[in-house]
Amino acid sequence: MAPKDHYLLGRSQAEEARLKRQIANLGPDSDAQFEKIGIRPGEKVVDLGCGPGGVLQLLGKRVGPTGSVLGIERSAQFVDLARRFVADHAMGQVEIREGDAYDTGLPRGSFDGAHMRLVLVNVPEPERIVREMVSLVRPGGWVASFEADFVSHIYDPPLPEWARLLEAYIAYSSAQGIDLFIGRRTHRLFRDAGVEDIQVDAVVHVYPPGHDRRPILRDFINNVRDRLIGDGFIQRHELEEAMTALERHLSDPDVLVASNAFFRLVGRVPSSV
Ligand SMILES: C[S@@+](CC[C@H](N)C(=O)[O-])C[C@H]1O[C@@H](n2cnc3c(N)ncnc32)[C@H](O)[C@@H]1O
Repeated sequence: MAPKDHYLLGRSQAEEARLKRQIANLGPDSDAQFEKIGIRPGEKVVDLGCGPGGVLQLLGKRVGPTGSVLGIERSAQFVDLARRFVADHAMGQVEIREGDAYDTGLPRGSFDGAHMRLVLVNVPEPERIVREMVSLVRPGGWVASFEADFVSHIYDPPLPEWARLLEAYIAYSSAQGIDLFIGRRTHRLFRDAGVEDIQVDAVVHVYPPGHDRRPILRDFINNVRDRLIGDGFIQRHELEEAMTALERHLSDPDVLVASNAFFRLVGRVPSSV
């Protein structure tokens, strides 16, 4: 049975809106990864933790009308949104099912490829999801992962209040068994699950003033602020003062904000298995 973890970032309207913006924001980085894999028309692929849209459109375009994309998502709310998203884009080859990436119940070895973006950085037992994902792919098929690592998320000039908020967020996440620096070790998780020919690269962006993702730490903190305070990771007045300082800093056009590192992994399921 899957552990009783909730989605780290919650499912508020703000998080829903953030995930919708993410479809466009991360689209080019994901599409470059799909290009590298060489996904072909007619392929049957699965996307675990697809969220309200994620990469469904990009995968749908690549497999074309003769292929199929199955999105698996645990949140009923995001399943509804993803179905609407797919209908709005007239993609009959894309299906969304409510399900658990820990235990999809899907037939083993039944997909040409499997993909997952920014799911492992939200779950307490990533190795179990990776094993499940790999088991869904036929011998010789591909797997692809796109995962965050907070290593490069910095501001310059630095801001002590930013460091304090990040410290509370990291402590809150790790208390739930969640590794915000998981991107760097996805290659080990997939290798341990039997994946071969693993190739990894990473992308980092600088978010200028006005960019949707410039205030990403603020958005993450807002998603979980009551739990950060309630569970004693930071006091309410300290959080509020730090958030005010963070807003001020973010609105200064001379402050540089760098993104998380996004580790992109592709690999093959061995032909002989
Ligand atoms: C950060 S969002 C990423 C969504 C999408 N993949 C994207 O890149 O835009 C993580 C998603 O994983 C889903 N999720 C988390 N744990 C899951 C699980 N065990 N099974 C299925 N979905 C899960 C969440 O509900 C959420 O939609």
